[in-house]
Amino acid sequence: TTSGESLVLSTRSPSNKVSILTLNRPKALNALSTPLFQALNAELEKAEADDSVRAIVITGGEKNFAAGADIKEMKDKEFAEAYTTNFLGSWNKIASIRKPIIGAVAGYALGGGCELAMLCDILIASPKSTFGQPEITLGIIPGMGGSQRLTSLIGKQKAMDMVLTGRKIDGITAEKWGLVSRLIEENQSVVEEAIKIAEIIAGFGKVAVQAGKEAVNASLDLPLEQGLRLERRLFQQLFATQDQKEGMAAFAEKRKPTWSDK
Ligand code: CAA
Repeated sequence: TTSGESLVLSTRSPSNKVSILTLNRPKALNALSTPLFQALNAELEKAEADDSVRAIVITGGEKNFAAGADIKEMKDKEFAEAYTTNFLGSWNKIASIRKPIIGAVAGYALGGGCELAMLCDILIASPKSTFGQPEITLGIIPGMGGSQRLTSLIGKQKAMDMVLTGRKIDGITAEKWGLVSRLIEENQSVVEEAIKIAEIIAGFGKVAVQAGKEAVNASLDLPLEQGLRLERRLFQQLFATQDQKEGMAAFAEKRKPTWSDK
């Protein structure tokens, strides 16, 4: 915390099923300082451990998502310190969260901000938002997955264009290129839209949701043959769940299913 103010605000949706984590350094456009991402990691761990939380929203609110890693903090950093402390390495913790994470982006999502957005499972953005990896303009390159995740999302040619020229794109382009899942209408709230999507997911059975996330993510790491095998095993295992029996019985009986998360 700085002067008693939390760097990450943690609230719940009215249903209590969605944990909403809001980056809270508005004056620095939510620049991702070490204390901020430690706070975010701590909140994510809490949400992951809390059984009542079914989905997580990460946002910077309606103004700015995050303008990148904190340049003022990095300015005087030396190689030995960055290397031995594994600077930015702990960001990867987000990738190990098993609950679905919905990102809500308005305004700037630059550098580490764009990389944080790409760590989300589903991304909602304003058409007027701005995405970019401007690290090259600072004499560095992306360090939180930008070169890897961006390339798998939008392909080599467009990723090279963004990483080597620092080109910024708007939300409309980001959606067209596959960086963003859905755009809001201009008068809508990006946070409310993300919560709505999180609530839809929160309404499904917990086991199937986790399996879906695990299977899609596996496709990024595994060769096709292994990925297909993992998917098939997860799919087959779901026939051991009550939720599979209930989901299919409810369909046959033309009623709504009641999930037991078992
Ligand atoms: N780090 C630290 N402070 C930042 C920041 C950052 N990434 N981005 C913005 N701020 C601060 C500014 O210094 C400024 O603070 P002061 O009022 O104390 O001067 C405040 O936020 C408001 O910013 P601006 O006055 O610059 O606002 P603007 O509207 O004129 O410009 C902007 C907005 C185009 C986003 C501009 O702030 C900018 O270019 N920011 C840096 C973007 C960037 O290069 N990000 C990549 C960082 S490197 C990285 O992220 C590495 C990685 O891969 C992990």
